[in-house]
Amino acid sequence: MPLFQMTGLSGAGKSSIANLLKNRLLAMNLKVEIIDGDEFRKTLCADLGFSKNDRIENIKRLGFVANLLARNEIITIIAAINPYNIARNALKSLYDAKLIYVKCDVETLRKRDTKGLYERAFLPENHPDKIHNLTGVNDTFEIPENPDLVIDTSVENLENSLEKVLDFILKITI
Ligand code: ADX
Repeated sequence: MPLFQMTGLSGAGKSSIANLLKNRLLAMNLKVEIIDGDEFRKTLCADLGFSKNDRIENIKRLGFVANLLARNEIITIIAAINPYNIARNALKSLYDAKLIYVKCDVETLRKRDTKGLYERAFLPENHPDKIHNLTGVNDTFEIPENPDLVIDTSVENLENSLEKVLDFILKITI
């Protein structure tokens, strides 16, 4: 069973789509696990920050866990920003890992700003609450080189995106 790695900026919809997918797949009696960056950063990856090295290490660990599940016939989806091609490609070379790019432009994300991170990243330099390394604003997000699927949540609604990803996953796994 392949594993699925998402990539996309914070707030693009990775976790939302993954959780909707989970419900749909469970309703079809399929086994599914979501490996969510936010959740793992509280536990297995709690020692990691947001430097390039730490983000790459983060994806390595999520990939390791995802593979254990995927090889036991569980549909496994990694929902993390996953901003570097080197980390995405590392999973592709170690495992049968499909890449899903959840695209959304920063202007739309700034308007949504579900976690308030974008507002903080756009604060003046010397502001105490400023975030200096928010992916897509003042930290790197490499455009994926060879994604297996691209969805764009700034033009599609969540339902459309969900159907596309569901179709893609079902075609590969069943
Ligand atoms: S990754 O870059 O290593 O793949 P991951 O998906 O695990 O990131 O974690 C991203 C989450 O951490 C975001 O959704 C956000 O809630 C939180 N976060 C806190 N600070 C930052 C930051 N500087 N850049 C990106 N995400 C951040």
